[in-house]
Amino acid sequence: MGLNKYRIGEKVLFGVIGLIAIFAIVSFVGLEIYRSHLKRPMYQINDSFDFTEAGLRGSVLFRDRGCTSCHRAVRNGTNNGVDLDGVGSKRNFIYLLNFLHKPEATYESKTVDHGPFKEAAYVANLPEKELNDMATFLSELKARQGAADSPMPMPERSGFVDEMVSIWAPKNWKNEHKDLRIEAGEPPAK
Ligand code: HEC
Repeated sequence: MGLNKYRIGEKVLFGVIGLIAIFAIVSFVGLEIYRSHLKRPMYQINDSFDFTEAGLRGSVLFRDRGCTSCHRAVRNGTNNGVDLDGVGSKRNFIYLLNFLHKPEATYESKTVDHGPFKEAAYVANLPEKELNDMATFLSELKARQGAADSPMPMPERSGFVDEMVSIWAPKNWKNEHKDLRIEAGEPPAK
């Protein structure tokens, strides 16, 4: 009786599922304990915005015209497509407006969704005024230092970044490129 009513394959299957469940619970509890002891938030929010009137209209359109079904901005939308928080620090208003009108001609590589006959092709045919307001909205999404769209990496020295650079950067990289962090007055890695 008891366990004997299961076949060997079933025991293995249930055992593996049980181990995965225990691993998930232990990891979650461990992470939460670690997080509760941190002095700063684990994931810092480095994006900011300050909207003009046109930008505010654009933010409403951004939701009403279906952009949030693929994009994310200002805590709205999905992670399916390109995250547009901070995009205004990487792209200017002219680029954004051009992209909305003529995505294929503006984007540096082939588009997945915005070109003609693709899923977001409708965007280019929206009224001029709406595209203007949305481009204004997007240009006002700014990235602070350390955000993905910021040209400057996070202000404090990151052991993780140093580690990645030492593993992945080619040997001649240091001669060919400047380290922005040292330019900003930080001491080089030890
Ligand atoms: C079906 C999914 C989808 C929808 C809907 C969509 N987008 Fe996009 N968007 C993408 C993808 C994917 C990219 C990356 C370029 C590409 O592959 O098309 C992108 C790129 C962009 C970019 C360029 C970012 C850059 O750095 O160059 C902007 C701006 C943008 N979308 C704005 C919008 C706006 C505004 C709307 C709504 C009117 C919208 N998108 C609707 C999927 C979508």
